[in-house]
This record gives sequence, structure tokens and C-alpha cells, in this order.
Amino acid sequence: MSEFLIAPSVLSADFGRLADDCRAVDEAGADWLHVDIMDGRFVPNITFGPAVVAAIRKATRKHLNLHLMIVEPERFVEDFAKSGADSIVVQAESTSTIHLHRVLGQIRALGKQAGVALNPASPPALIEYVMHLCEVVIVMTVNPGFGGQSFLPEMLPKVRAIRAMASERGLGTRVMLDGGINDRTIRPGVDAGADVFVAGSYVFDAPDYAERITALRRAAIE
Ligand code: DX5
Ligand code: ZN
Repeated sequence: MSEFLIAPSVLSADFGRLADDCRAVDEAGADWLHVDIMDGRFVPNITFGPAVVAAIRKATRKHLNLHLMIVEPERFVEDFAKSGADSIVVQAESTSTIHLHRVLGQIRALGKQAGVALNPASPPALIEYVMHLCEVVIVMTVNPGFGGQSFLPEMLPKVRAIRAMASERGLGTRVMLDGGINDRTIRPGVDAGADVFVAGSYVFDAPDYAERITALRRAAIE
């Protein structure tokens, strides 16, 4: 496994052959699979529930990283934990923000790695007092809801700030970038301190997933 983890986003897979596409991206060298859960309320799009995550679980043994873009995530974390997730990330701005600490505790009590995602407008300060409960922090580099959008470079100072917060606390938190990652945007992310990279359209919109994953790894260190 490389120092930087590549997490293809299943959002850009072919849903008509979802299990096959998950197996293919696994065999192509994905480190983690990133699964975007959308409810049509927190974001203007709807994707999968726990039953589909369970089907993905059967197709791969790789780490399944669930990104919950849903309101009231505390109502669903148990179902998603049972569906076979390895890590569950909630959005800091979801209606449970007032109980962000509680929902992270819920996820950990279910035996899963926990994390928080920050929308582009959200400051790092939102996670200051819950960082020790997070194995992963996602810095959104697009507005959540859809694949194929352009990377927002103005998020890079936020990545630096979060990496510094983790270092100050002696935490080995993984800092994940999500949105618009390709062979040009990954390197600035690495330089800012991120170490896990979600890539949806860049990987799945190509005929050869392995070639794209290799290109990302190369661009991360070149
Ligand atoms: C956006 C999702 C992303 C998305 C990334 O709401 O959270 O995970 O799949 O897609 P690309 O890599 O195409 O920007
Ligand atoms: Zn995502």
C-alpha cells in the first residue's frame, strides 16, 4: 500500500453493474472504496441506502468509507454500520451539528472508524473539539451532491490548518480530499497535508481504471 490512499467514489460507477464495477476498481488497485450516501435533503441528489452498501460489501474486501450527506445521520448510523462499513463520515453541517460529538461517539461504539466532512464554507474550528474522535476528516473540495465538478483550490489552506491541528494534538488523523481530484489536483493536496484522495469521475470515466489509479499515485509524488 502506498503512503497516499486512493479511494475511488462509487458514485461514478455504472449502477447497472455496480458489483462488477466495485470488483474491477478493487482489482485495479483501489485502497479504499468511497460510498456517497445522499438523501435529497442535505444535498440535492439521492443515492443509496444500507441495502446497496451491503451489496457492495459482498463485492469487495477493501475498506468501505461511507460519506453520509444526510440530515439526522444519528438515525441511520447503526443500519450503515451493520451494512458492512469500515468507516462512517458525517457532515458537520447536517442537522445533528448540535450533537456532532454524540454521533461520533455512536459510530465508535458500533466499532467503526468515525469521521467528519466539512463543506467548502465551513471552518476548521467546527471540528476543534471532536478531532480526537475522528480517524478521518474530509475536506470537501467541491460542493457536495454530484460527481464531475471542478476542484476548489481555495480549500488548500483549510487542509493545511486541519493537518496542523492534528499534528498539534499528536493525532494521526487521515485528511481526505473529496471532489475534483485528478492528476493535476492531487499534488497540491499532498503538499497541503492530505493523505487520502477520493476520485470518482477521474477513475470511472476512463476505460482502464488501473491506469487512472496509477496516474494518481504517480502525480501525487512527482
Ligand atoms: C460529491 C461526492 C464525491 C464525488 C466526487 O458530493 O462527495 O465523493 O463522488 O466525484 P468527483 O471525483 O467526480 O469530483
Ligand atoms: Zn464523497
